[in-house]
Amino acid sequence: MSLTLALIKPDAVQRNLIGNIITLIEKNDFVIKDIKLMKMSNKIAQEFYSCHKEKSFYDNLIAYMTSGEIVALVLEKNNAVTSYRNLIGSTDPNVAEDGTIRKLYALDKSHNSVHGSDSDENASREIKIIFGS
Ligand code: RTP
Ligand code: MG
Repeated sequence: MSLTLALIKPDAVQRNLIGNIITLIEKNDFVIKDIKLMKMSNKIAQEFYSCHKEKSFYDNLIAYMTSGEIVALVLEKNNAVTSYRNLIGSTDPNVAEDGTIRKLYALDKSHNSVHGSDSDENASREIKIIFGS
């Protein structure tokens, strides 16, 4: 078993999609080990997305992720990181696979409803940033 960090982003929380997204997570056999509704501070968002600091979309990403409430979840499953990345689909909903969370709910490449850690190392780092352990 391994862990991953999932976020339900502001665009999805604002559209009352928390329940639909958690239903998909549970139907796909992830076990929710921790969960909270929160608002990211600028400091937390900058730390969380430090790897994107030089990217053209960085300022918009920080503004978006701090614009409203998010839901953070620690998920457990075999190969949790890869399995959850497969469930959420590609970053851009226009190319995301049918049945994925982003294909179903994302608005566009920037406002794409969910986050998933991209490696075991980043899962540990992100869980520590958001849940502090
Ligand atoms: P995430 O980290 O949120 O799970 O998404 P990801 O791995 O699929 O994508 P990543 O490259 O890590 O980008 C992080 C988030 O930045 C926003 N983004 N916008 N407009 C753009 O070209 C663009 N590219 C990335 C998205 O919110 C993306 O999820
Ligand atoms: Mg990423």
